[in-house]
Amino acid sequence: MPAVVIVGAQWGDEGKGKATDALGHAVHYVVKFNGGNNAGHTVVIGGERYALHLLPSGILTPGVVPVIGNGVVIDLSVLFSEIDALTARGVDCSELLVSANAHLIPPYNRTLDKVIERFLGSRRIGTTGRGIGPTYADKMNRIGLRVQDLFDEHILTQKVEGALAQKNQLLVKVYNRRAISVQETVEHLLSYADRLRPMVADTARLLVDALNRGETVLFEAGQATQLDVDHGNYPFVTSSNATAGGACTGSGVPPTRIDRVVAVAKAYATRVGEGPFPTELHDAQGERLRRVGHEFGTTTGRPRRCGWYDAPVVRYATRINGLTDLVLTKLDVLTGLESLPVCVAYDVDGVRQDELPLTQTEFHHARPVYEYFEGWQEDLAGARTFEDLPKNAQRYVLALEEMAGVRISAIGVGPERDDLVVRHDLLGG
Ligand code: GDP
Ligand code: IMO
Ligand code: MG
Repeated sequence: MPAVVIVGAQWGDEGKGKATDALGHAVHYVVKFNGGNNAGHTVVIGGERYALHLLPSGILTPGVVPVIGNGVVIDLSVLFSEIDALTARGVDCSELLVSANAHLIPPYNRTLDKVIERFLGSRRIGTTGRGIGPTYADKMNRIGLRVQDLFDEHILTQKVEGALAQKNQLLVKVYNRRAISVQETVEHLLSYADRLRPMVADTARLLVDALNRGETVLFEAGQATQLDVDHGNYPFVTSSNATAGGACTGSGVPPTRIDRVVAVAKAYATRVGEGPFPTELHDAQGERLRRVGHEFGTTTGRPRRCGWYDAPVVRYATRINGLTDLVLTKLDVLTGLESLPVCVAYDVDGVRQDELPLTQTEFHHARPVYEYFEGWQEDLAGARTFEDLPKNAQRYVLALEEMAGVRISAIGVGPERDDLVVRHDLLGG
């Protein structure tokens, strides 16, 4: 039984939540290994919509053990409101496990995230304002707070004091805000300690034990390859490793134990926040993709920027993540279009480049070189096998597969759990 990593191939919101959910029935553990409540995964089951931010999507499948790994940053107020909201809808959250080494998002980092963005002005990233960047920065600066610190009030107070000694200087002297109280921060964090304690575990050991027993573990990335702090298009990225390597560092499961790496890609492209996006559409076609694809952020409600499929971006994801499979989602959103442009290369200041540009400057200058595919008019809703798809849709998928350099193993034809054409078993075969 395998360890399977699911990542985003583009700029996020590819439908990773739905892909995780679709595999849920065959999986024992689902692990979130990076990011925090900047993620937003919408899963639709029997007409019911669930929006998950901090909890792994696997929580929706009865019997699956959801795990929040050490690579995640946790806003405790969000964690418990999400648990309470799901519990009220009948979802069992009692099996949730949380790594003792995961970092906490203290309220002051939410404040800083928003203030820093405002100060950046035209150089802003367009963050979700959830305190993600400042919390990962604290982790690297070794002034972060971890889950385990909640269980030693003395240590927690010392660490909050240490962090605020720096942050209050910044808040007051640079950003012109009020200083934050150590005591209030400590009390706020401690108010969650008793409730969290039973969930805290040595998750790295538990997961390797599970793999040794032959159980299946699914690692679910937040964000995506182009938002990865090392491999994405920096600085317009999140602050964690959203690519496959992050599944190891963010969970404590070693690389030699990973069997499959699956990326999810949309049949077109979207992006939230700032940064280069070569195939972006600023016209009625972009509006149409946004309307038909319901492209509004699950987390912030922001309209997503929409554009055509960018083949070099997905090919890059194949290489960086070492993909074994690709899941192509939202093919149904393209139904009814006469012609489907696909970006196959870039024109960078008059020079054709077949792969992602090396530098940020070139990426900003990249103009898409399009190849055009014929569209289809038939409704895809009921398609369950590849042969059920219209011929032109099949040609589109096969062309994208060829360009991606990895097999397309499943195709999304609607938002529901069952709206999926499966070509190859994602867990093996
Ligand atoms: P994630 O962040 O990668 O989990 O993706 P999001 O949930 O933010 O965004 C994907 C959206 O597309 C969600 O609203 C899904 O319900 C929806 N979705 C996923 N797959 C499909 C599909 O194949 N067709 C359609 N029409 N919607 C899909
Ligand atoms: P899922 O998991 C799309 C983007 C933000 C911003 C940048 C940095 O649903 O695919 P951050 O708050 O992380 O510091 O913001 O990253 N971003 C996402 N875009 N989907 C996401 O998650 C995202 N998480 C962060 O819009 O541009
Ligand atoms: Mg999302």
